[in-house]
Amino acid sequence: MLVLGLESSCDETAAAIVDDQRRVLAQRIATQEDQHAPYGGVVPEIAARAHVERLIPLVEAVLAEAGAKLSDMDAIAATAGPGLIGGVMVGLVTGKALALSTGKPLVAINHLEGHALSPRLADPDLAFPYALLLVSGGHCQLLEVRGPGDYRRLATTIDDAAGEAFDKTAKLLGLGFPGGPAVEKAALLGDPFAVPLPRPLLGSPEPHFSFAGLKSAVLRARDAGIHRPEDIAASFTQAVIDCLIDRTARGLRRMDSPNALVVAGGVAANRAIRAALERLAADNGLPFFAPPGWLCTDNAAMIAWAGIERHALGWDDRLDVAARARWPLDPSAEKARGAGVKA
Ligand code: KG4
Ligand code: ZN
Repeated sequence: MLVLGLESSCDETAAAIVDDQRRVLAQRIATQEDQHAPYGGVVPEIAARAHVERLIPLVEAVLAEAGAKLSDMDAIAATAGPGLIGGVMVGLVTGKALALSTGKPLVAINHLEGHALSPRLADPDLAFPYALLLVSGGHCQLLEVRGPGDYRRLATTIDDAAGEAFDKTAKLLGLGFPGGPAVEKAALLGDPFAVPLPRPLLGSPEPHFSFAGLKSAVLRARDAGIHRPEDIAASFTQAVIDCLIDRTARGLRRMDSPNALVVAGGVAANRAIRAALERLAADNGLPFFAPPGWLCTDNAAMIAWAGIERHALGWDDRLDVAARARWPLDPSAEKARGAGVKA
């Protein structure tokens, strides 16, 4: 089975061709970093326009690289949300047009499911159900992954996502954009215990996450003017690790015998975070899976792979499927207290 995947939900335009033997035949990612850098964050309108310009050339490039034609595809998989709606529409409408013109089925992919299933593209040994820490620029969730389309959310962030905290910290410290890799690099040169920073929600009974207070503490530490940026970056990373580990450990106790602990999403590219989670998995007698760095951050190979998993189940979508700005993996999950809900 051969599937073309399209991704355009944030600031990466991407196309990839993947087969059901887990081979990535071709993949391209065009980042828009340069266009958004002057604003210190992603500007939705700029992103949508850039996706329009880039997506079709990327599709042509991956077809050429894979030596394949559109008619060789078994399905077209496109991200249908959640994300910046203008960009999502560009990718989904492109997917619909390709599906309509070739008569191939369309599979509309939840971007979060792309991340959630990406470790299975990297590793054939990862079987359902597994415990997943999904940490990206827009999300921080602990999920029980039971199968495609079957998720139980045990925890979420009550304010910011972990990646957002990395991006904000990078901005505050003048380390540049995108923030995650810049903070990781600076942290390697710093002392993780030099700056006292809070560990929001540490020890609280519900396994939810919170990073907004940590972000403000980084601002105060910077304004104090006595710490090196490298020390703040390292101490910030350590605080994030302590929170992620404490919260994940607590969430694990609420799951029925998962087969593995898995991390995915852009923040999972961080080596210190991966190492800490690997220790947590070992302490719990679980194997640990983390996709390679390129598969953690946004890409189209994970969208194509989710398309393969869903198409194999016969879950193709109609061409009138809607783009969605919001699209929770577990619609039955209750809102976390604190997340805009008055107690
Ligand atoms: O999954 P992703 O590419 O896009 C979303 O769906 O959000 O995640 C992007 C996020 C950004 O916030 C970025 O700063 C963070 O992942 N990130 C990292 C690293 N690489 C990317 N955070 C920490 N360390 C990294 N090496
Ligand atoms: Zn993502």
